[in-house]
Parts: sequence; C-alpha cells; structure tokens
Amino acid sequence: MTGLQHFGWFLARGFGPQGWGYPSLDWDYDWTRPEVYQEAARTLEQAGFDLVIIEDAPSLGSAETIDLRVRHAFGGPKHDPLLLAPYLFQATRHLGIVPTVNPAATLPYTAARQFSTLQHLSGHRLGLNVVTDTGSARHFSAEPQLDHDAAYDRAEEWLDGIRSLWRSWDDGALLTDRETDVYADGSRLRAVRHRGPHFSFDGPLNAIPFTDGEPAIVSPGGSGRGLGFAGANSDVQLALAPLTETSVRAYRAKIHDAARAAGRVPEDVQILFAIQPVITPSADEADRIVAASADPDDATLVQIARKQSSDLETDLTALDLDAPLDPSIFGAHVSRGSIQRLVGDRDEDAPLRAHLTALARAGRMSDRSGFVGTAEEFADLIEELGDWGNDGVLLWGDFHPVTLHRTLDELVPVLRRRGVLRREYVDGGLRANLRAF
Ligand SMILES: Cc1cc2nc3c(=O)[nH]c(=O)nc-3n(C[C@H](O)[C@H](O)[C@H](O)COP(=O)(O)O)c2cc1C
Repeated sequence: MTGLQHFGWFLARGFGPQGWGYPSLDWDYDWTRPEVYQEAARTLEQAGFDLVIIEDAPSLGSAETIDLRVRHAFGGPKHDPLLLAPYLFQATRHLGIVPTVNPAATLPYTAARQFSTLQHLSGHRLGLNVVTDTGSARHFSAEPQLDHDAAYDRAEEWLDGIRSLWRSWDDGALLTDRETDVYADGSRLRAVRHRGPHFSFDGPLNAIPFTDGEPAIVSPGGSGRGLGFAGANSDVQLALAPLTETSVRAYRAKIHDAARAAGRVPEDVQILFAIQPVITPSADEADRIVAASADPDDATLVQIARKQSSDLETDLTALDLDAPLDPSIFGAHVSRGSIQRLVGDRDEDAPLRAHLTALARAGRMSDRSGFVGTAEEFADLIEELGDWGNDGVLLWGDFHPVTLHRTLDELVPVLRRRGVLRREYVDGGLRANLRAF
C-alpha cells in the first residue's frame, strides 16, 4: 500500500538567467532580484513540497569553454545560491531550502559558521547539496585539481570538520540563566584541533548549538564513490536512474548497504528519484506531444545542441549534423556519464542528428517510455514507485511561475486525493519533515 512520499524541486539552471532562450518565460522578471524565486518558493510550499534544491557551479569552467557556457546562459552566469537562501526563508515558513555547496570553495570554519547562522535564522530549514566538481579548483587555493575520488575524500574531511565545529558546544554549555546571569559555560566548549590532508583549523565555533538538528545533507553523486558518500553522510540522496523496478530497487539497495556499512540505518537516507514530467490536460494531448517530438526540426536540434555544448564543454553546434560524432572530441575532464547520456547505445557511426533526435523525442508516461502524461498517469507512476519502497521524487525544472503552474496545477489535487502528497507540515524544520513519514 502506497503512502505519503517526499517531493522536492530541483532548480536545475541555478541562480542565473533561467528563462533565457525560452520565449514562454519572457515575463520581465529580473533574475538577479529575489521576487521570482520567492514567488516560486511560496507556490511549492503551498503544494506541500519538502524542499527546493538550487543547482550551482562556482566557476565558468576552463578558459577555452567560457563562451560556450555564457553564450546561451546554460552554464553561467550563476550567482551564489547560499545568499539567495535567506530571501526564500523569509518568503516561506516550512519549505526546506537547499543551496548547492562545493567543499573546494569555502573553508570548514567559515562554512560551519555561515550554515549555522542560516540554520538558526530559518527555523532549522537549511539543507546543503554537497557536490564535488573539481573543475573550479583554480579559483580557490593553491591545491592542484584533485581526481574524482580524492575530491570525495576532501568532501568527507570538510563535512566531518564542519560537524566537529557544530558539535563543539557540549550539552549544557549554553545556559542562558538569568538568575545567575550566566549566558554560557566556556569550560564546556571543545577546542577542536583539526590537522588533515586538505584542511587545518581550530575550534570551537562561535555559533550556538542547534535545537532541532543540524542542516540536512543532500548529495547527487551517482558514481560508486558518490553512493558510498551518500550512505555514510546524507539525509537525502538525489537519484538519476531508470525508473524500472529492478533499477530503483538496486539503486536503493546500494545506498542502504553503504548506510549500514557506515553504522547508520536505511531510514536515515531519503532517496528522491529525479523526474522531469510534462503534465498535459488529456491523454490525447500527451499523444500529440509525443508524436510531434518524433521528427524534430533543425531549430529544435540546435537548441538541444546548445545545452549539450555547455554541459559537455564541447561546441556541438559547430559540427555537421549529418556526420558521425567522434567521441574523441570530448576532453578527458568531461563527465563520462554526460557523454553516455548523449550517445546512448547507438552505433559508432550514428550521425550527431541521431543523438540529438533521441534527446528531443518524448515518451508517454502511461507505457513508461517517457514522462509526458496526465496528472492521473503521473500519480500512477508515483504510486508504483511507492510500491517498490520509494521515499520520494525530485521534480526538475526552472523556477518560474509558468513552469510551476503548468506542472503543479493539475498534479497537486490528484496527488493529494491519492494520499501520496502531504497536506500539512510538522514543526521542527526540514529534518523533522523529512522524518515525518
Ligand atoms: C539531481 C542532480 C543534481 C546535481 N546537482 C549538481 C550541482 O548543483 N552542481 C554540480 O556541480 N553537480 C551536480 N550534479 C552532478 C554530480 O552529481 C556532481 O558533480 C557530483 O559531485 C559528481 O559525482 P559523481 O561522479 O559521483 O556522479 C547533480 C547531479 C544530479 C543527478
């Protein structure tokens, strides 16, 4: 029997010019101002979502590919989501706000203090999406660019360090006793002396302890090392995997094994599978969208090529659409997973057009070939996921009233009626709501 599931929204283009290139989003919002994000956050809270995750990359990438990233605003500019968070907290009362953070970019003491401040300011609603992108190393310190697994080692050292600082006030250290006029007992503060491979710092932290738990840790890494990190450290794991029973169960088992290996229990990690649905008013309309996508025109392919060029740091728009795609054009630093998502399992001599067409093609939710469908069909999918033990889903898209209303207006009442979407929040902030069911 399916029960309530957790719903998150991933602002996939980060705190940047998210509407660029989409005429339907040309509503004269200024992306540098908080209003469009505040309005979206209120809508998601009204809908009963647990949390919003704001994508980020702290860098425009390598000098050779900067133009690819900024030309159509797919890879930048990006402003700092940590500094957007207070505006979203102020606009909402229950919603968890989760900026993406990179351990390379902020020293543990500064990070522990900033996160602690936001956790208190927000009524314990802060989460941190911890990513290990290494391409931005040159901006931050003299440390050379780490390899993939070493970046995870650094992330664990960073997080352990932050937690030791958050825990540097023992129980009973904060007294706030008006009778004796004693605010805090300094003898109960731990010195914390950390000397590690990547960071060195002393404590204690000069921020007071939490009343409703530490900020929730969220992670999106899909590699073996990434899943291990999630099992050991995360409260929420963002999963990008096929939504078949075998794949969902296998993914969950890997995280749960990693949690047990780290002395935790599977219930400590909520796994949210990422989905980008296109919700239609009728099944006929869904069929029409799918049929129309089968044979995309060149303008559509070029738009997809632009986005891929930014993600893959390689200018696909300069290539002949009808010539085979040579995989050696991608540099060694480009994510293997992203290349795989482009080329799929098509023949080596398949032209670029075939790869882009495959990305343009949409499938129907009803036969599980894609994510175009009605609210009822979406609810069927969510219930099926729930039958496999799933904790929740992460809807994926920009953070604009047009997108949110298109997706949510029909969906929310149906999900509520089916009993899979919460009607109310509990007190205690993000952690309490993640653990409420
Ligand atoms: C839902 C989702 C969200 C992600 N968000 C980010 C992000 O905001 N910033 C980023 O650099 N990488 C993001 N990633 C990509 C990678 O997971 C991330 O770079 C990771 O640290 C690399 O780890 P991996 O090799 O274990 O996948 C995201 C991935 C997924 C599936």
